[in-house]
Amino acid sequence: MTRTMKALVKAKAEPGLWMHEVPVPEIGPDDVLVKVTRTGICGTDLHIFKWDQWAQGAVPVPMTIGHEYSGTIAELGTNVTHLNLGQRVSGEGHVIGFKSRASRAGRFHLDPETKGVGVNLPGAFAEYVRIPAFNIVPLPDAVDDELASILDPLGNAVHTALAFDLVGEDVLITGAGPIGIMSAAVARHVGARHIVITDPNDNRLELAKKVEPSVVTVNTTEDLRALANSLGMTEGFDIGFEMSGAPAAMATLTEHLVMGGRIAMLGLPAKPFEYDFAKMVLKMLTIKGIYGREMFETWHKMLAMLQSGLEIRPVITNRFKAEDFETAFQSAIQGGAGKIVLEW
Ligand SMILES: NC(=O)c1ccc[n+]([C@@H]2O[C@H](COP(=O)([O-])OP(=O)(O)OC[C@H]3O[C@@H](n4cnc5c(N)ncnc54)[C@H](O)[C@@H]3O)[C@@H](O)[C@H]2O)c1
Ligand SMILES: [Zn+2]
Repeated sequence: MTRTMKALVKAKAEPGLWMHEVPVPEIGPDDVLVKVTRTGICGTDLHIFKWDQWAQGAVPVPMTIGHEYSGTIAELGTNVTHLNLGQRVSGEGHVIGFKSRASRAGRFHLDPETKGVGVNLPGAFAEYVRIPAFNIVPLPDAVDDELASILDPLGNAVHTALAFDLVGEDVLITGAGPIGIMSAAVARHVGARHIVITDPNDNRLELAKKVEPSVVTVNTTEDLRALANSLGMTEGFDIGFEMSGAPAAMATLTEHLVMGGRIAMLGLPAKPFEYDFAKMVLKMLTIKGIYGREMFETWHKMLAMLQSGLEIRPVITNRFKAEDFETAFQSAIQGGAGKIVLEW
C-alpha cells in the first residue's frame, strides 16, 4: 500500500495552491527522506501561487512547491553512511549535476544543470521531502527548527554580504525585504561601519530597525545625499547590495557609490531595463551577480555566525499552521510582512 502525506500542490495551471493527499516520495540510494517540521514562504512561492509569467514557464503542473525547510531525517538511502535517522537538518534547495567543469572543480553553486526543490523537483511544503544526501546540512543545537527554515534566504543574504570585504566599509542596501534586512545584520556582524538601507515601504524600514537597530533607514523619497553627509561620508558608499530587483535601485547605487565601489546584486529584475553603463565605466564600479548560496561555504559561515551572535529572528513576523496556508499566503502577498513560517 502506498503511504500518503499532506502536501501543498500547484495542482492546476491557474492562480492558487491546493492541500492534497499525495504519495510519500520514494528515495534513491543517495537520498534522504526529511520529515518536515517548519517551512518558510519565499517570493518564489508567491510567484507560483499567483501563476505569473515566470511561474508558467518554470513550473510543471502538478508540483509540490516549497524550498525553505527544516526537519528530521526519517529514512536514509542505502549509500548514505554519514547521516543518522532522527538527525535535525536543513539543506540546499538547489540540486546540482556533477558533470560540468565548475562542479568537478568543486564550485558547485556554478553548475549549469541546477534544478530547484519546489520549482522543478517535488518540494518541501509537505510532510516529507526527498533530498539528495549531498544537499543535507545538519543543524547545530543553537539553530532551532524555526530559524533553520529560513536558512535558505539567510544564505542569500550571507552570500551577498560576503561577496566583498566589509570591514570598516560603508554599505548602502537597496531593498528592505527579508533578505535585504538580514544582509544588514550580517554586514554589522562582520564589521561594516555605516549601514544604510532604502525602501519605499516604511513598514519594511521599521522591520529593518527591529532586526538590526544600528542600521540607518531611509525612504526612497528622502534625500540620500544629505543623509550620507550627516553621517560624515563625503565621497559616497564603498559597497552596495542590490536587494530589490528594482531598476531605480541600480541607478541609486551607481549614483551614491564611491569611485571604484563594488555592488553585489541579488535582486532579480522582472525584465530587462535601461541602465547608465557610462557612469559604471567612469566610476570603475564592479557589479557582481549573486545566485543562491555557495555550496557549502555560505552554509558553514551562516551557521558559524548564528553560533557567534548573529541575531535575525525578528525578521520572522508571522507563524501559521500549514493547514492555514491560504491566510499565510494572503499575508505574504499583501506585503510589509517579514518572513512567514508554516508549521507542519
Ligand atoms: N539571486 C538569487 O538567488 C535570489 C534569491 C532570492 C531572492 N532573490 C531576489 O532578491 C530580492 C529580495 O528578495 P526578498 O524576498 O527580500 O524580496 P521582497 O520583494 O520581499 O523585498 C524587496 C523590497 O524592495 C523594495 N523596493 C522596491 N523598489 C525599491 C527601490 N527602488 N529602492 C529600494 N527598495 C525598493 C520593496 O518595497 C521591498 O520591500 C528580490 O528581487 C528577489 O527576487 C534573488
Ligand atoms: Zn527562497
